[in-house]
Amino acid sequence: MSFSIAELFNQHFSEKFELHEQHLNNQMVRVLRTIGYDRNYKRALGQYLYDENGNEYLDLLSGFGVFAMGRNHPTIVSALQETLTMELPNLVQMDVSLLSGLLAKEILATCPDNLEKMFFCNSGTEAVEAAIKFARYTTKRSRILHCEHSYHGLTMGSLSLTGEHIFREGFGPLLPDTGSVPFNDLEALENALSGKDVAAFIVEPIQGKGVNVPDDNYLPEVERLCKKYGTLFVADEIQTGIGRTGKFWAIEHWGVKPDMILMAKALSGGFVPVGGVAMTSKIMDTVFNRMDRAVVHGSTFSKNNMAMAAGLASLHVVHSEKLVENSAKIGNEIIAAVNAMVPKYEFLKEARGKGSMIAIEFHAPKSLGLKAAWAMLEAANKGLFCQMILIPLFKEHRVLAQVAGHGMNVVKFLPPLILTEKDRDWIVGSVEKTIADTHNVTGSIWTLGKNLAGHALKNKK
Ligand SMILES: Cc1ncc(COP(=O)(O)O)c(C=O)c1O
Repeated sequence: MSFSIAELFNQHFSEKFELHEQHLNNQMVRVLRTIGYDRNYKRALGQYLYDENGNEYLDLLSGFGVFAMGRNHPTIVSALQETLTMELPNLVQMDVSLLSGLLAKEILATCPDNLEKMFFCNSGTEAVEAAIKFARYTTKRSRILHCEHSYHGLTMGSLSLTGEHIFREGFGPLLPDTGSVPFNDLEALENALSGKDVAAFIVEPIQGKGVNVPDDNYLPEVERLCKKYGTLFVADEIQTGIGRTGKFWAIEHWGVKPDMILMAKALSGGFVPVGGVAMTSKIMDTVFNRMDRAVVHGSTFSKNNMAMAAGLASLHVVHSEKLVENSAKIGNEIIAAVNAMVPKYEFLKEARGKGSMIAIEFHAPKSLGLKAAWAMLEAANKGLFCQMILIPLFKEHRVLAQVAGHGMNVVKFLPPLILTEKDRDWIVGSVEKTIADTHNVTGSIWTLGKNLAGHALKNKK
């Protein structure tokens, strides 16, 4: 009997929510239904998703940043098809593979010149786990320092370095000998490092949760302090890397040289799970220092041909289509256009970010009528106002986006880096219309607000 994914997909097209309710995480289905995001997407191309009725949606989530080159990019699809049909030897294990060597060379050419070696794994969190182990082994210290409100992943090691309380609650005890300092606080960092017992300081150049951009002297000083106290400086570029912020690596905005750069997400164009650590030769040569330690850290699927081929094709697309430049241009234009709206709208605090990593923050208004409406939402659930933006943005303007984190009034855009000027105008126009609507407290949007507050209060009980 023949087997066809296309047939399976078409035959069961309308069953996905039911299947998830029965066999997977039912809470996700509840969330989607509550906020009206329960669509049946049928096709995806570039920056767009299409539902069963052919409606086009602009995807500003890009699968949490993996589809930087757009969905189903033909160059990457073709590279993967070729890789599958070539009957290549894959994962021979007692061998070293050509494609991983080629990809390592390509990536290292984009990194600061102190980074000469690559380690591959299968996801962002695995890159963080590798960094923890490599830092401990190299420095012979155990303490790992991270920032408050950081996000580094959800396996036990990376979760121990993730500052957001909601992810940690109930999963302890976590990794011992970790600690946190406030982001963008050099005095706190120096205090924490001065005991000379910290193996590594891991930091996102721009924090993903909240899209927090540090002061210009922060990362250069981080580099200096880490050197001074013998701590390895680890830049988690899993989200910010590969063009996201308008530079290939976000660290380029500040010209710093970390001891390790962590990467994943966009590295394979979203097709195949992949992760990596670029590091100094010293770290690599210390961890893998003898033949009997050649396999002391690794993972069965790492360096698999599909991930490596997708990585090579993705980097080719980034360079040949000048996506870093486009990410900077369109992203910065969106940030500037939203900031120009601030004087007009009381709820709007600011837009911030760099390139295509964008936050729009809202705050309590000054006028009495709006103040009461804001207070009702905040009392029900801190950060609920964001849904007053995100739900109409999706339902009325077909723009898919998300909140920037729990309990904050920040909406986040993490679009593919291929947005056109037409997409930019789609975003700016629909954001403005949506924000303007929230300033009419007698309008239908506040019926939604009251419903959301009711739901949130019921949930709390
Ligand atoms: C900065 C950062 N680090 C680590 C991770 C974890 O990556 P993954 O979800 O691939 O495990 C993420 C994921 O969002 C991230 O944004």
